[in-house]
Amino acid sequence: MNRLLHRAVPVLEWTGWKITKVERGYCESVLPLSVPTTNQHGTHQAALISLSADYTGGMALTTLLTGVPLTGIHRGHPNRSASLWLASMDVKYENPSTSHLRGVCRIDAKTAERIKSRYFGGRIVLVTLTVEFFSEDNERVAVAEMKYFAQATSQLLRDREDGQRSSLSKLNLKKSARIIAGLRAQRSRQEGQWICREDGIKIRIDGGHDMFAAGTHGLLQAERLQKVLPQLQSMVAARTINADDVLRSMPEVEQLVMLGAGLDMRPLRLSNHLKGATVFEIDLPEMLTERQHVIQRMDKQIGGTHQTPERYQIAADFLRCDVGSKLRDHFAFSQTAATLVIYEGCSMYFEHEQNVRLLSSVMRSLKNPASRLWLDCVTPAVIHANTGDPNIHAFVDQMEMIGEKFIYGPTDIAGFLVECGVKLDKFVTAGNVLDDDDPTLAEYRFVTACRDSVDLESDPA
Ligand SMILES: C[S@@+](CC[C@H](N)C(=O)[O-])C[C@H]1O[C@@H](n2cnc3c(N)ncnc32)[C@H](O)[C@@H]1O
Repeated sequence: MNRLLHRAVPVLEWTGWKITKVERGYCESVLPLSVPTTNQHGTHQAALISLSADYTGGMALTTLLTGVPLTGIHRGHPNRSASLWLASMDVKYENPSTSHLRGVCRIDAKTAERIKSRYFGGRIVLVTLTVEFFSEDNERVAVAEMKYFAQATSQLLRDREDGQRSSLSKLNLKKSARIIAGLRAQRSRQEGQWICREDGIKIRIDGGHDMFAAGTHGLLQAERLQKVLPQLQSMVAARTINADDVLRSMPEVEQLVMLGAGLDMRPLRLSNHLKGATVFEIDLPEMLTERQHVIQRMDKQIGGTHQTPERYQIAADFLRCDVGSKLRDHFAFSQTAATLVIYEGCSMYFEHEQNVRLLSSVMRSLKNPASRLWLDCVTPAVIHANTGDPNIHAFVDQMEMIGEKFIYGPTDIAGFLVECGVKLDKFVTAGNVLDDDDPTLAEYRFVTACRDSVDLESDPA
């Protein structure tokens, strides 16, 4: 538990805080007196005692949720996990803390029963627990009243009765799109791009669009994931380069369809190439609202989005809607226009049949032989944890922990594409794109496919 907590909350590791004893309804911890935890008087910093109280009480509460993984700490599907957080606290500092500090939280039997019956009865738990702190000579240093909220994550994620998504599921949605934008931004931030101003001075421009879209949260999450899988940034860079190249290789492109558009700013970034084209951004309604919000703020703050191609948003849940028919019904969509469909960063989150249903419905709506599909996918070894690279599996674990479990990687790409109504045109790995023979990069693949002319003729209009 100490190892898991340290990984999830790095400040705990930094301070040397750890759990020293647990029993059902009981937790004891220690906050060492050390250079990182003391203030100028050589006593513990008050805020760190509060931090210790938070996790000591939280852990005592966790001991009552027998067999239930904690969201953000343990692996496990959200449907089986518990969400736990601190709602408020009141800490009284009674004496200076000048030695290692022992934190103690004991939950009385009656309160413990109430917590268990509410949690396992599917209800919200709101409980105030007392955490006491003692110095090495057993003098009480502080006492904290900590109020916790706990509920089954599945209940928190459940959409509201009016069909609106819950706040937690909205937050999760934004999170994955922000992380991807953060990874794209990291690369361009490091390498930068140099342009020559009219006055001859060279200036560096960073991935402004992606950096803006990611925000502080996305950049930070990307940094954390990058530590787990050092090749991650290269993988995302390779996929951006490859999809951009495919788009640029279609000078005649008239439509760009972005399936699961998220916060991909490609229409803004490649606005020159897309001049005169129409862009369809398809995603869940909440994500599209966020996307529009980000683009509007970007326009105000960094400018430069006024020359974007014609963009239309189509709200669709891939699991519930016939996306092809939504496209065909859209007044601006033309089946005969040369179209590139980009399905980026999505295939790994859906089952084989779900991917096939979505892609075949969209691709069968395209009647121009120049139309293309681009998608990225992982190898089945990534899904089955047998790539031989422990970092990949630690990354997939981490993704599962943040609710982004990878579940699919096609074994037979050509066969998968045939089921989707297209045929394989080009297939490369991230390693091929970057000219790098690191075997980890070979686990990530980019595919370009086109409509089969025979299929095109035989399809009903
Ligand atoms: C990992 S993000 C990738 C976003 C974008 N393509 C990129 O590369 O930056 C996955 C996207 O799929 C969308 N998505 C997830 N589940 C979906 C569903 N059931 N229907 C439609 N979109 C979905 C998410 O909202 C998110 O924008």
